[in-house]
Amino acid sequence: MKNIAIFASGSGSNFQAISEAVQAGHIEANISLLVCDQPGAYVIERARTAKIPSFVFRAKDYQNKEDYEKEIALLLRNRNVEWIVLAGYMRLIGPTLLKQYEGRIVNIHPSLLPNFPGKDAIGQALAAGAQWTGVTIHYVDAGMDTGPIIAQERTRLEANETRESLQQKIQAIEHKLYPSILQMLLTIGDVKHDEKTRAY
Ligand code: GAR
Repeated sequence: MKNIAIFASGSGSNFQAISEAVQAGHIEANISLLVCDQPGAYVIERARTAKIPSFVFRAKDYQNKEDYEKEIALLLRNRNVEWIVLAGYMRLIGPTLLKQYEGRIVNIHPSLLPNFPGKDAIGQALAAGAQWTGVTIHYVDAGMDTGPIIAQERTRLEANETRESLQQKIQAIEHKLYPSILQMLLTIGDVKHDEKTRAY
C-alpha cells in the first residue's frame, strides 16, 4: 500500500473526504502525514480525530521556502511517502519538493482551469458571470494552478446562484471526484497486462 501525504491550509473538507475513502477501502493507501502551514486551521483537528500525524509550521519562522520544504522533504522521505496530495494548500510548491516528487504531486482547484486560477476561484466565476464552472484535478508544476490536467467536472451556474450554493455544489463534486481519481492514480501502475492472454 502506498503512503501519501496531504497538504492543506484550511477547513480540510477534502482531507476528510479522502481520509473517509481510505477508511472505507475506496482508496488503497495510507495517509502518513498531514502538512499544514496554518496553525489555527480546522484540518489539524480533523487529522487528530482520524489519528493521522501532522506537521504544522509557519512559513515566517523559516528564512525561505527552501528551508521549510527541506524539512518537509525529510519528513516525507522518513515515512516513505510516495505521493503528495494538495487539498486546499494555499502555497506554491518550490523546487525542493518538485524535484523529489516529480510527477507525483496532485492538486484540486475549484474551477475549470485554465479559467479562474489562484485565490477565490468561486468568487471569480460569480463575478465574471460565467455560465459554467467546476472542479479540476491536475499534476503540480512550478506555476499557480497550472500543470497537466487529469480530470475535470463541470457544474452550471443558475440565475439565482449565490456564493454559498455554488460552494456547496463545488464541494459535493470535489469530495467524490478527488477520492476516485486518487484511487486511479495510486493503483494504475500496479495493473499488470499479460501480453499473451491480454488480461489485466
Ligand atoms: C477546495 O475547494 C480546493 O479546491 C481549494 O481550496 C478549497 C479547500 O477546501 N483549492 C484551491 O483553491 C487551490 N488553488 P477544504 O479545506 O474544505 O478542503
